[in-house]
Amino acid sequence: TVLVVDFGAQYAQLIARRVRECHVFSEIVPSTMPVEEMLAKRPKAIILSGGPASVYEPGAPAVPTGLFDAGVPTLGICYGFQAMAKELGGTVANSDIAEYGATPLTVLDQGRLLAGLPTEQSVWMSHRVTCSVAPTGFIVTASTASAPVAAMEDAARGLYGVQFHPEVMHTEHGLQVLRQFLEAAGCRPSWTMVNIVEESIEAVRAQVGDKRAICGLSGGVDSAVAAALVQRAIGSRLTCVFVDHGLLRKGEAEQVEKDFVAATGVDLKVVDAADRFLGALEGVTDPETKRKIIGREFIRVFEEAAREVVEEHGEAVEFLVQGTLYPDVVESGGGTGAANIKSHHNVGGLPEDLQFSLVEPLRTLFKDEVRRLGEELGLPAEIVWRQPFPGPGLGIRIIGAVTRDRLEVLREADAIAREELTRAGLDRDIWQFPVVLLADVRSVGVQGDGRTYGHPVVLRPVTSEDAMTADWARLPYDVLQRMSTRITNEVAEVNRVVVDITSKPPGTIEWE
Ligand code: XMP
Repeated sequence: TVLVVDFGAQYAQLIARRVRECHVFSEIVPSTMPVEEMLAKRPKAIILSGGPASVYEPGAPAVPTGLFDAGVPTLGICYGFQAMAKELGGTVANSDIAEYGATPLTVLDQGRLLAGLPTEQSVWMSHRVTCSVAPTGFIVTASTASAPVAAMEDAARGLYGVQFHPEVMHTEHGLQVLRQFLEAAGCRPSWTMVNIVEESIEAVRAQVGDKRAICGLSGGVDSAVAAALVQRAIGSRLTCVFVDHGLLRKGEAEQVEKDFVAATGVDLKVVDAADRFLGALEGVTDPETKRKIIGREFIRVFEEAAREVVEEHGEAVEFLVQGTLYPDVVESGGGTGAANIKSHHNVGGLPEDLQFSLVEPLRTLFKDEVRRLGEELGLPAEIVWRQPFPGPGLGIRIIGAVTRDRLEVLREADAIAREELTRAGLDRDIWQFPVVLLADVRSVGVQGDGRTYGHPVVLRPVTSEDAMTADWARLPYDVLQRMSTRITNEVAEVNRVVVDITSKPPGTIEWE
């Protein structure tokens, strides 16, 4: 494993992902972790991340004591580089000139890290503090106009540092720099999907033994991949529960019922609870109230289904499978393994008193890895490449009260938008694409020589990395044109189509 020591902000996750792209397993640890604890993980290499602080700020995170004497090859990036330089006796100072963004870098000596790279290249910088003299024993391998030491190394001691950010796409040869560090550290590229599948299956078998597990399928990628993996591990001792709350998109329930079962052979229990959800939602227009109702009903239905599974098998169900991903684990402070239900999972807030132990086979993986894992497990592309869809479903995409008729209108409009997006080959360029029905708004239109008084539909295609921030997607005009024409022609109740051009922030991705 490669440990990525997190000095703050979002840098560490990106570094960890890039290391894994080099087929080496990586794990994020906080900078406050004592060195002994890090060494207990037997790291092949350590990477010190960037961070928002300056090494001279009071309270700036320190390099764990003894790290550079531990004999583990270490790469410092940005803040990590400055901390390394300062700690080992180099000169690091606040400079008058900050460097932000794409910056020309001159390679002075290729060393191990920059071997084979061109003398001039563009790198991504973001710093105000600059290292002017490298510590004794280091050679300076690159500089920029305002950073005399932009890269340095002491290959004999296995210590490397770069002021620039090799993990960001804007650094031309960044991935190669990381790869060369990993090679110099003796890391073998053995983190492959085949190995991940095998290791994960083994781990689930070891955890569950001959007991039973249950998994709530949401229709989304994470729960589907988690379920498929656990099914491989324990076969029919896994039961999946799919709650159809009647707020799904067109074809979604069928996809879970048929395609997923066909691909995995999983034991599936489908609960048709549409009446119950729609009854509870009747006349409700407030978004938070809608969410609370949907969450509450979901728990009840899931609990009932879980009890039925227990009765049917005449045997206790001890484990609950969850599709928790690595970013959730990192963001909630590292987690400590199997515990009773917490609230950050994706089945809508199951209560503490549902006494299951958790099986979270994806908790070390990033989303893109989960998708590749799904492919490796033979899941269909429609499931693996599905865009995120919120738990409350179309219930929060109808602005106004939710009714069957309105759901039908939205389902049709949404299906057309999705179809045209797929036809344009843009599915994977768009992070998510809510289609929203403004059910309480009407506008006048003209169609076939007649006046219409229908509802507007909002198209909300966004691009994003992680849904925390998002930008409105610049869909080609001809694609938008086809969506608009088809929706107004084919969905009688809709006479106007508008595009949402708000980024997040200030807007959220969903309208409610
Ligand atoms: P917003 O709309 O806040 O959403 O920008 C960020 C991401 O989360 C999804 N989302 C949800 N997912 N249950 C979910 O499982 C929910 O209640 C929920 N609300 C929002 C949203 O679709 C987007 O991907």
